[in-house]
Amino acid sequence: MDLDAPTALLGGLSPAAFMRRHWQKKPLVVRQALPGATAPITRPALFDLAARDDVESRLVAQSAGRWQVRYGPLARRSLPPVGKPGWTLLVQGLDLHLPAAHDLLQRFRFVPDARLDDLMLSWASDGGGVGPHLDSYDVFLIQVHGRRRWRFGRVADESLVDGLPLKILRRFEPEQDIVLDPGDLLYLPPRWAHDGIAVGECMTASVGFRVPTQGGLARELLQRIADGVDDDGALYRDPKQPATATPGALPPALVDFARASLERVLCEPGALERALGEVLTEPKPRVWFDGGAAAGAGLRLDAKTRMLYDDRRVFINGEAFDAAGRDARLMRRLADTRRLDVRDGAALSDGARALLDEWIDAGWLHRSTP
Ligand code: SIN
Ligand code: CO
Repeated sequence: MDLDAPTALLGGLSPAAFMRRHWQKKPLVVRQALPGATAPITRPALFDLAARDDVESRLVAQSAGRWQVRYGPLARRSLPPVGKPGWTLLVQGLDLHLPAAHDLLQRFRFVPDARLDDLMLSWASDGGGVGPHLDSYDVFLIQVHGRRRWRFGRVADESLVDGLPLKILRRFEPEQDIVLDPGDLLYLPPRWAHDGIAVGECMTASVGFRVPTQGGLARELLQRIADGVDDDGALYRDPKQPATATPGALPPALVDFARASLERVLCEPGALERALGEVLTEPKPRVWFDGGAAAGAGLRLDAKTRMLYDDRRVFINGEAFDAAGRDARLMRRLADTRRLDVRDGAALSDGARALLDEWIDAGWLHRSTP
């Protein structure tokens, strides 16, 4: 991807200019970002996906001001008739199951994989939507079938309507009101209020992003780091402990020992980077891999595989491997392009090739024709 080349996807901006001017800053409406766009899946096939227990889905219905939300798996017979107005079915992680959705998500890899989450697809009957709300992440909303009216704007008051099964803003004063046709795109930064209402039946794809919270990330990192700590036998000693008349008091030397123990673990070189790479490549819940028997001399990552790297290691599906020299260069190429051609595969060391064979057996990587 040429980061400085203007692209229709971003309304004639280059990815570099988009990131500078809009990302996390201000919305962008792009007419015909994806000319000729069509739904990556038919409505019945989307409904079938929503019935699977390895797919995350939700049904949102509204009638006479009453909202109803149901979480998947959702059997077809439990969905309202398609001719009934005011409901929508939202299916997460289409990119994991559908090559066309995976390919669409790849168009947005000018944002780091560590931030890219998934491609969601929603189908809505006339008037369907999830109500005025805000999200904590950036989103690209792509109209792939039919038309949808979007109203959006900044919010002064983030308070929500009480007692509803979903988060609906109490006060929503849109600054813009537009209708998107197939191929049109709307980018919204985090915390911009929006309300998308289907104009006739429609489908909308949304590219969502991962937003770690400080507390959540700290908890996950600490768990990972804790798992890797071995008890090296250093014992607490207190030869200077005087006789005490306050036996309930915590000895200050023990507090110092505890602090030093934690610092030792947290400051171990590479411990944080390793844990972060493992956490960020951990597959989502309910993801499993099928070891494939595909033939071919090239290699491609499975759509469900998450692979990242830093300057010392590669991370794949929750595991970290040290990598240096040519192996590291080729592994990084695999992470960036999600494939390796025959020549690159042949240039790997025996050790790296053996590792790749394990990844093929696990279904993380597949042989492919170049
Ligand atoms: C939708 O596709 O209906 C909802 C997307 C969103 O508002 O974030
Ligand atoms: Co939203």
